Amino acid sequence: MPKRPKVSIIGAGTVGTAAAHWIASRELADMVLVDIIEGLPQGKALDIMQSGPIAGFNVKVTGSSDYAATAGSDVVVITAGIARKPGMTREQLIDTNAGIMRSIIGPVVEHSPNAILLVVTNPLDAMTYLTFRAAGLPRQRVVGESGALDSTRFRTFLAMELGVSVEDVHALVIGAHTDKDMVPLPRYATVRGIPISHFLTPAQIEAAVARTRRGGAEITELMKASAFTAPGASICEMVEAILLDTKRVIPCCASLDGEYGERDVCVGVPIVLGAGGVERIIELPLDASEKAAFKASVGAIREMLGALKV
Ligand code: NAI
Ligand code: 2OP
Repeated sequence: MPKRPKVSIIGAGTVGTAAAHWIASRELADMVLVDIIEGLPQGKALDIMQSGPIAGFNVKVTGSSDYAATAGSDVVVITAGIARKPGMTREQLIDTNAGIMRSIIGPVVEHSPNAILLVVTNPLDAMTYLTFRAAGLPRQRVVGESGALDSTRFRTFLAMELGVSVEDVHALVIGAHTDKDMVPLPRYATVRGIPISHFLTPAQIEAAVARTRRGGAEITELMKASAFTAPGASICEMVEAILLDTKRVIPCCASLDGEYGERDVCVGVPIVLGAGGVERIIELPLDASEKAAFKASVGAIREMLGALKV
């Protein structure tokens, strides 16, 4: 009988739990949740398992504070760290979260040397780079969740303006996962292949772009805590692409080695995501203003990395 894949989620907070719930509901993998708070991952795991008989999934979810339980994972999702509060930027989390990431990466790689690492902790681009450097893995095996979330937000806001099904709206966001420096690409957004400029005025498009940039901040201001449902779904979308080797085209944070004229930095770009992780980086032709926005985005990430001294 084929063995079910194994996914470990480090950080059993709101995002880690939401991701586990989505992954379980699609029966993608058995899971181990890990957290430093004793009892928390065990309790969260039991809670998810007990929804299985109603939801109709059969995966096994366990919790632990010991990395030995994660051994042999196919994918390790890292959501451990602090999240932003209203009025905070993702960048303000850097010192605390860098320390947490540094303590996690060694044991993760030791127990799952063949895993693909999926980084979620903010500030995302800096934490993905830190993970890539500290893990010592090929760049294909470290990927960050950023554009999957920013793009689903962009698609949602465009669909609201368009009055059509979200499923028929395709759009992508590249660049840094920060309010100021993310790069939504309306020129490449379509309704089932028809450019959105056929339906929307420049002002309507700009409104959707602006709302996308503040997508996470808007939610944090409203509920006084960081978003988790769409982030969890975005993680699940990526885990599914890796485990089922679907070769989905998803904007993700990846290590560049000359693509887009950049190297030695992790930033959001469209990739082909499959069993090998970041199997291909798609180099989109960018116009002058998109190029300038992407360059500024990379500049902002490099500034964060300078502060980190990676
Ligand atoms: P949370 O506070 O609910 O959960 C974080 C969990 O990490 C806590 O349970 C905490 O005990 C645990 N943790 C802390 N240090 C740890 C360690 N050394 N080992 C294991 N576990 C540890 O936070 P939430 O809302 O789940 O967010 C988690 C992170 O994900 C934040 O940095 C947040 O900004 C980021 N995030 C990133 C998104 C993205 O698109 N990349 C989307 C949403 C959140
Ligand atoms: C978000 O975009 C905070 O990165 C998190 O919701």
